[in-house]
Amino acid sequence: MRVPMIAGNWKMNTTVSEATALVNEMRRGLDEITNVDKVICPPFVSLAVVRELIKGSSIKLGAQNIYFEEMGAYTGEISPLMLADLCEFVIIGHSERRQYFNETGEIVNKKIQAALRVGLKPILCIGERLEENEAGRTEEVVTEQLRSSLAGIDYLSGLIIAYEPVWAIGTGKAATGKQSNETIGLIRQNIAELYDKEIAQGVCILYGGSVTAANAAEFVQQPEIDGALVGGASLKADQFLSIVKQTSEIRGRLSG
Ligand code: 13P
Repeated sequence: MRVPMIAGNWKMNTTVSEATALVNEMRRGLDEITNVDKVICPPFVSLAVVRELIKGSSIKLGAQNIYFEEMGAYTGEISPLMLADLCEFVIIGHSERRQYFNETGEIVNKKIQAALRVGLKPILCIGERLEENEAGRTEEVVTEQLRSSLAGIDYLSGLIIAYEPVWAIGTGKAATGKQSNETIGLIRQNIAELYDKEIAQGVCILYGGSVTAANAAEFVQQPEIDGALVGGASLKADQFLSIVKQTSEIRGRLSG
């Protein structure tokens, strides 16, 4: 049985003091829920502070990006070694990075390798754009992104995948539970082909894109979907807490 996960991607939001206030607001409520992995991914500048704030709790910490070299003259970049010292997870290949920062499949692949090398757990994001979806190319695009991201990687230790259809991100127009369950099933099938069935059954695969407290249940009750990567709603303590609580209740019911 895979442990469900709800991860909050704060994106480029919150100053250090705002991040502090947000963590303080949700810390206790999140900590009380033990059958769901709860991950928060604040901006780089708040990682060290948030790490101290969640010490001794069951809340886990992730970063939003990484560079693939370990050290050297790469002004402004953050290395896998620096992150491994601070947090457990790192989001890689988010569509906003692919779109605004020209991250290609090859770069995403290097970043995944770099993260795994230092023991960071990558949250690999893949998903089709609106025109690809409308042209019926979802399966092809998602398969290609998955395979290029994982090229040459023979060990998936701790890898998490987030299926985030680009048209659903920040638009308020989420995919349906049924659609995303199908695509996530396909991703799992690809993992089984690339690795083996047992590995595929163990990989945690999330849905992301306009998840809120109002629609989270639709996703987390699907058999292939192991949780959610939440953007906007993760910046509101009550929303994020409600998503985690609903996941805990639904999963508790399904496994009991
Ligand atoms: P929203 O939940 O704001 O649509 O963002 C989703 C996302 O990109 C999470 O990584």
